[in-house]
Amino acid sequence: MTDSVFVTRLIPDEGLDIIKKRFRTSVWSADMPPSPQEIVERAKQCSGLVSLLSDRIDESVISLLPKLRVIAQYAVGFDNIDVTAATKKGVIVTNTPGVLTETTADLAWALIMAASRRIAEADRYVRAGFWQVAWGPKLMLGIDIHSATLGIIGMGRIGAAVAQRAKGFGMRILYFDTQDTDFARAVEKETGVIRTDFASLLSESDIITVHVPLTNETKKMIGADEFARMKKGAVFVNTSRGAVVDEDALVTALSSGHLHAAGLDVFVTEPLPSTSPLLRLPNVVFVPHIGSASFATRSRMAVICAENLVLAMRGNRPPNIVNPEVLVHR
Ligand code: GLV
Ligand code: GLV
Repeated sequence: MTDSVFVTRLIPDEGLDIIKKRFRTSVWSADMPPSPQEIVERAKQCSGLVSLLSDRIDESVISLLPKLRVIAQYAVGFDNIDVTAATKKGVIVTNTPGVLTETTADLAWALIMAASRRIAEADRYVRAGFWQVAWGPKLMLGIDIHSATLGIIGMGRIGAAVAQRAKGFGMRILYFDTQDTDFARAVEKETGVIRTDFASLLSESDIITVHVPLTNETKKMIGADEFARMKKGAVFVNTSRGAVVDEDALVTALSSGHLHAAGLDVFVTEPLPSTSPLLRLPNVVFVPHIGSASFATRSRMAVICAENLVLAMRGNRPPNIVNPEVLVHR
């Protein structure tokens, strides 16, 4: 009998078609994500689930899906999935790393530049008709990117791609990572990035950008103490996960004038509530979690997600398995 798969949102056709061809496929077509109850309802008979980062797949959901064998996440980050619970149930979890690395690094750079040079604020200023004097000696002054010190928190694939781009700006590039990996060593050789401890990265960088996954260890790793250690006038950029940052502390650091600006793609609560005090700050550039959002990358993510699903459903090892230990238990 054909296996059934539930896809929690309309992902690009390049991936969806692969899935539809092989499985009895049901797709959640609304813009709003399904609730955990709705996921359970729709996926009850399914052995495959394609999930998004906005779907909370916790132990209670997994335990109510008795036929489930594979969760194929359409994202690199998978902090929305209780992987331990999945592993215990023998469920393979996959993600879509690699393909979105360069696209996400591009967006981190867009935010670095927009926040440093006040691009969004300047755009609002022109549109509102405030541009009355031809050239202002002190109009919209920002901070230099070239020759500045860039601090990269997390030297994974995306951190490395951000470092590559920083070379072109002639920056001094520092990074902090809890792990001393061969990968990071290779990036050091290639880009001249310098490994530092966390405190030095915070106090020496003019611009700080975060590229760590959300885990118990990284949750709120940047709070009031860390912002206080940053240089006065520093720029802070986050394209990883909102919960890595203590958002209240960020608001304080921005509104007190300690930080020059922030560029944010990710938030503790998404969508960002209209009551968020961040929205009152002119020196924050917002984008709505669009790190991987290019036409080409979202299509490639869909294909990789589908290929992972197909292989795992057939009992083969998918290329992007998150919990390889699950294969031992089978
Ligand atoms: C996006 O945030 C992702 O994890 O792919
Ligand atoms: C993800 O963790 C990446 O660095 O690509």
